[in-house]
Amino acid sequence: MKNTVTTFKKAKKDGKKLSMLTAYDYSTAKLMDESGIHGILVGDSLGNVMLGHADTISVTMDDMIHHGAAVARGVQNALVVVDMPFMSYQCSVYDAVYNAGRLLKEGRAKAVKLEGGVEITPQVTAIVQAGIPVMGHIGLTPQSVNVLGGYKVQGRDEAAAQKLLDDAKALEKAGVFAIVLECVPAALARKITEAVDIPTIGIGAGAGCDGQILVYQDMLGMFSDYAPKFVKRYADIGSRMKEAFSDYIGEVSAGTFPAEEHSYPIADELIEKLY
Ligand code: KIV
Repeated sequence: MKNTVTTFKKAKKDGKKLSMLTAYDYSTAKLMDESGIHGILVGDSLGNVMLGHADTISVTMDDMIHHGAAVARGVQNALVVVDMPFMSYQCSVYDAVYNAGRLLKEGRAKAVKLEGGVEITPQVTAIVQAGIPVMGHIGLTPQSVNVLGGYKVQGRDEAAAQKLLDDAKALEKAGVFAIVLECVPAALARKITEAVDIPTIGIGAGAGCDGQILVYQDMLGMFSDYAPKFVKRYADIGSRMKEAFSDYIGEVSAGTFPAEEHSYPIADELIEKLY
């Protein structure tokens, strides 16, 4: 079944949980889509897990378009959401609408995601009015790591918790179709989820959200630079990859790969005629 912003909103009404994963390339996105995932986020986390940066600050519009279009080519049914990178929407409403449009036209996104609460509602309203669905993202917003003072759980005191609830309501009013809650205490995420009519998608926000999202390299054990507490490892593909790489290296050096079945034949007489 094709997943759209409408089916996302309906899932909340029907009490049906939504599953999302990040992806950044054609082959991985195709496998996820074939597995029945509801939504794929081309996250700016690609700065960390694909490009090896320490943060998401240096991710560009060209990066997001390049990876967004690759993912979209692999997807039939999942809703493809592409992140707006740092400084593509913060400076002005004009920039926000223009860059969101590029992510749809060139990056083949079906929706865009912006980090921030009340302060970015003018941008959200304008993008939605331009006919582009928007997903919100509050709590730990990695593009603001320098203001937040690190990658920490958010909304722990009363004022901060109230601000997150206010942000969620303001984003809903501005027209977002869903909100990512990242690194928020579980009871607060549940309260926010109950306070809005649009689905919340949690990452490190407990089981009370309407859906969940994980970075795929984290859940497959393919990224070892750091391991957030909220990640569950569903497979250890990283170790399997290393085993396969060293088997290959061993067989190449022993001359046992390629074998005959991996080679193309030609008549011996033809080879003998060559001088
Ligand atoms: O960039 C990303 O991967 C994200 C998820 C963590 C929600 O924004």
